[in-house]
Amino acid sequence: SAAEKGGYASFMLKEIAEQPRAVADTLLGRVDAEGVLTLDEVRIPDAVLREADKVVIIACGTAFHAGLIAKYAIEHWTRLPCEVELASEFRYRDPILDPRTLVVAISQSGETMDTLMALRHAREQGARVLAICNTNGSTIPRESDAVLYTHAGPEVAVASTKAFLTQLVACYLVALYLAQRRDAKWGDEIGDVVRDLARVPDAIERVLADMEPVRDLARSLKEKETVLFLGRHVGYPVALEGALKLKELAYMHAEGFAAGELKHGPIALVEDDLPVVVVVPSPRGRSVLHGKIVSNIQEIRARGARTIVIAEEGDEEVAPYADHLIRIPVVPTLLQPLVATVPLQVFACELATARGNEVDQPRNLAKSVTVE
Ligand code: G6P
Repeated sequence: SAAEKGGYASFMLKEIAEQPRAVADTLLGRVDAEGVLTLDEVRIPDAVLREADKVVIIACGTAFHAGLIAKYAIEHWTRLPCEVELASEFRYRDPILDPRTLVVAISQSGETMDTLMALRHAREQGARVLAICNTNGSTIPRESDAVLYTHAGPEVAVASTKAFLTQLVACYLVALYLAQRRDAKWGDEIGDVVRDLARVPDAIERVLADMEPVRDLARSLKEKETVLFLGRHVGYPVALEGALKLKELAYMHAEGFAAGELKHGPIALVEDDLPVVVVVPSPRGRSVLHGKIVSNIQEIRARGARTIVIAEEGDEEVAPYADHLIRIPVVPTLLQPLVATVPLQVFACELATARGNEVDQPRNLAKSVTVE
């Protein structure tokens, strides 16, 4: 009913708007004033966390994209190798698992059969499983060794939005917690990251306050057949998620690519007026990547692409090559997906609506897929 949607036209719009709160709630009570993480729910003994020699993330759909982003944070902060695998592929390739493998299963519903079967397989091989889940008492956390709940609140729209952002937050917390327990060398920095995370809800609020141009742009593209998404580093999974949202909601052909792969194939797809969304890394710190992606934008634009550029506030270098510029607040590189994903959600939702689609219940999809 309209009341349940809190005045929004769809649950999806409501859930997009709830993201600052969902992120704040997922952080709440898990970090103390000194920046020490207190994840009491993670009942995996410290000795196991210290002796782990590999992290394996399993998930499906949007949760898989959260896992892809988590890999960057886990490897950077803990120096533990991290693999990310689609749950539906995992057990069929005889993966290498033992008691020193920490498996992280990410699932909003906690009922996805592919993820459940993958986690059962991992436990049979002796691995410890930590679930990241949004649904209290659901099957995946019940069958795991431990669970870190995301506090997004109920997510009704089929396409995941606020659950995704809170999955990212939970992944960052797990990465920091592992770093802390394993006495990673950069221990002092944990406090800085924690403080940066605490500022993210405000940053998301600022993104949401300025979405009218994104909605206008989305409506103007409703006759298009294809939209491409490019990103690098953590922006690559953000590009994949932007493309998935557009497929799910707008029923358009959409693909996400690693920008560095353009020259190895996808650039052949670029033709006149093709919309290409590019997630631009911060020009600070990782300026090498920034320069490379600016060149990519110039290359596709020279071939006629209509460039839709998501770039940090103050990034002036990229501005001349953007046909449409979407600004996001400055946050540390690894946290950028928390702000960069939001305009892509709004973009897909608006484009779907302009095409006459029902955004909360896209055709052929289910909120939770309980068959393999
Ligand atoms: C379904 C939904 C997706 C979701 C995926 C994984 O396919 O339509 O939006 O990302 O399942 O769901 P989970 O509940 O395990 O996160």
